[in-house]
Amino acid sequence: MIPHAFVQDLLARVDIVEVIERYLPLKKGGVNYFACCPFHGEKSPSFSVSPSKQFYHCFGCGAHGSAIGFLMEYSGLGFVEAVKDLAEQVGMQVPEEAPGAAQERVREQSLTELMTQAARFYKEQLKRSPVAIEYLKGRGLTGEIAARYGLGYAPEGWQSLQAAFADYADPKLLECGLVIENDQGRRYDRFRERITFPILDQRGHVIGFGGRVLGKGEPKYLNSPETPLFEKGRELYGLVQARGTIRDSGTVLVVEGYMDVVALAQFGVANAVATLGTAATPHHMQKLLRVADRVVFSFDGDAAGRRAAGRALEVCLEHLADNKTVAFLFLPDDHDPDSYVRAFGADAFRQVVDHATPLADFLLAQLRQDIDLATAEGRARLVHEAKPLVTRIGAPLLRLQVIKMLADAAGFSQIEVEQACGLAAPRRSERRFDDTPPDDGFAARRFSGQASSGKPFRGERRPAVPRQPPRQRPATPVETLLKIVVQHPTWSARLPVDLLPADSAEGLALIAVTDAMSVGDLPTQGVGALLEHFRDTPHAPILARVAVANEETPFEDGTIEPLLNDTLNKLQADALSREIERLTAQDRAGGLDPQQRRRLAELLMDKQRLRVRPKVTDS
Ligand code: GTP
Ligand code: MN
Repeated sequence: MIPHAFVQDLLARVDIVEVIERYLPLKKGGVNYFACCPFHGEKSPSFSVSPSKQFYHCFGCGAHGSAIGFLMEYSGLGFVEAVKDLAEQVGMQVPEEAPGAAQERVREQSLTELMTQAARFYKEQLKRSPVAIEYLKGRGLTGEIAARYGLGYAPEGWQSLQAAFADYADPKLLECGLVIENDQGRRYDRFRERITFPILDQRGHVIGFGGRVLGKGEPKYLNSPETPLFEKGRELYGLVQARGTIRDSGTVLVVEGYMDVVALAQFGVANAVATLGTAATPHHMQKLLRVADRVVFSFDGDAAGRRAAGRALEVCLEHLADNKTVAFLFLPDDHDPDSYVRAFGADAFRQVVDHATPLADFLLAQLRQDIDLATAEGRARLVHEAKPLVTRIGAPLLRLQVIKMLADAAGFSQIEVEQACGLAAPRRSERRFDDTPPDDGFAARRFSGQASSGKPFRGERRPAVPRQPPRQRPATPVETLLKIVVQHPTWSARLPVDLLPADSAEGLALIAVTDAMSVGDLPTQGVGALLEHFRDTPHAPILARVAVANEETPFEDGTIEPLLNDTLNKLQADALSREIERLTAQDRAGGLDPQQRRRLAELLMDKQRLRVRPKVTDS
């Protein structure tokens, strides 16, 4: 692993503007730089690079990240590769692997070469195998499509790869999963008598294979194991071939099998990709929503298909954005995309894709499944079960829509559902705690942000959907604080850690940032570095979301301090109110000991004091 500190040093040394400029022509506009976004098709530039934050962000598609993140997205590099690449550019040595860094790269390169060599061999073998050709023809595939997907054939025999490699005993053949060693140390080919589907990474390098038996046999599919090159949860089969069509159509179709991808392509539906025998992962979701505005998951119409769809639904909630749509397609029983397109043709298939169930509808249908809405209990349960899902929806407008749908279905008002989901402050009387205007309105006004200078494209380049709903849910104190510290981590020094509630993902992220700052783990060189520090932690998605929100509606520097003070007051008041409430309830139930009674009296006095305290106080 590359040490955190090195990554931070590296980010301090490189300039994101220079890094990106190597790939894209950037134009200065105010304090930032702009370009047409390389991650989605557009004609006017909404991709911005901030030198002060060392962060890039596209107002059109939401792509964002540090210099490292850019290299990963743009060149399809892995994290380690991107770090190495950057380090090399500024003449830094990646520690730990320092002596072997070059060797390491050579090793990975040579693994990729072995895989490519194997793919070539399998392709050659396909030409020589009438049975394999017959099989593919029987499944309706032409030579052209077989070539496009690099299909091949691993012949019968235990060690056919001996013909492909000079040294069959090479340990690297084992490492990249092409051969297997038995207990006696005897080697044999992993893929035998199978059609081979090479799996490519974003750069088009072969990193793994899927292999299907000819006809019947177990297992039906065999996949490469996880290797230094191949991580199943990150890769999507067919993405390289589909990329162009995905870009043109704005839609990516996610199917379950290799054959589905290839068969659809055969019928001219060329925007399909498949997960590799695993459920969709957050990495998949990120990648999918990055390459397309619309993601349609296709599942078989059976119970297993519904279960898989449920999992995909859960995974995508956090990654949603209001300018993206996700939909679920359930094919009729006994059909998968391959058989469907064969039976009914490409137009029919495109039609069902166009009419796939929108995410919100599927979410509601899932929730309602075993609930009897004719009863009060059922209606209550609907909202109760919706809560953990609804709060995770990353798209504010969509979340609002789902809340409305829930309210309709369960016979509640929208506000009631929001409160039940913990998405609105409890009671108005309680919120008017001190003499500031209601905090929600206060914070919300700042959230909708006055445009700061130097962002000429803001507003202009927003997606058609307005990002701020007319009635935005008020920001909670924790959300406000998180937004502040992501924008300016140094403010975290002002946060009373023991007062920060750890009962939400936002709260935990806020605590994590505060902790990291307090022990000096986090340098203050911009949000890009902050995101890198939390890469691959549970806080990463939330911090990224906040960073993007900050790009779109930043706090003006001068407003931060009073806002911080107000929010801290509110946090304190909330904590106070909660304790008072708890003690009062206990009192009513008849059980306060003298010490608790004293505590309650003190708290009430504190509350009184807070109420008369002027709005902006200490600094
Ligand atoms: P065909 O029968 O060739 O049409 O395949 P399919 O695409 O209809 O396959 P299926 O729906 O059975 O499986 C979908 C995907 O799950 C495949 O593409 C594989 O990635 C994976 N899979 C299926 N069967 C197996 C298996 O036996 N072992 C493993 N490891 N993966 C499998
Ligand atoms: Mn099939």
